[in-house]
Amino acid sequence: MPDALEPLISADDIQRRTDELADEIRREYGDEPILLVGVLKGSLYFLADLSRRLGPNVTIDFVQVSSYGTGKTSSGVVQIRKDLDINIEGLHVLIVEDIVDTGLTLRHLRELLGTRHPQSLRVVSLLVKPEAMQHESTVEYVGFSIPTKFVVGYGLDIGERYRNLPYVAILSPSEP
Ligand code: IMP
Ligand code: MG
Repeated sequence: MPDALEPLISADDIQRRTDELADEIRREYGDEPILLVGVLKGSLYFLADLSRRLGPNVTIDFVQVSSYGTGKTSSGVVQIRKDLDINIEGLHVLIVEDIVDTGLTLRHLRELLGTRHPQSLRVVSLLVKPEAMQHESTVEYVGFSIPTKFVVGYGLDIGERYRNLPYVAILSPSEP
């Protein structure tokens, strides 16, 4: 049996919300340059759509961290797989996340990037699971709060599948 996908957030709703987030971010940063730090690979589509709405004064870099294996449960271990290419000292850094679940990944990333003396350090996440947030982690800009369910699409995967769905869906895997 194939996995069951239950649509949760439509492609249109994602685009509308991304417009609003970009407006909010630009209102607060003014014309200041912003370095977007995309967290690979899940933030891929959100970063692409958000960045194109933030005007010309934007640069982009990436980090890759892993806290999950290929399945659905957190290993509790956060590891940097790919670090930033550029020096962020004195820059306005905006971390772009796909989803904040336990908050462990984000806490770790904030700590790490904070030691490099950016001028400011904030986070925008398309999705947050508030019930699951076990670790103190601030998300300044939230796209959608969702229930504590496993979701895929618009960058989010399970075992590298479903990232390219244009919408976000709740995944109920088929029984083996
Ligand atoms: P956290 O450290 O528990 O906040 O989770 C961090 C990472 O786990 C996210 O950036 C995602 O890559 C992954 N993750 C958490 N929840 C989901 C989900 O529902 N679907 C897909 N990936 C998820
Ligand atoms: Mg992620």
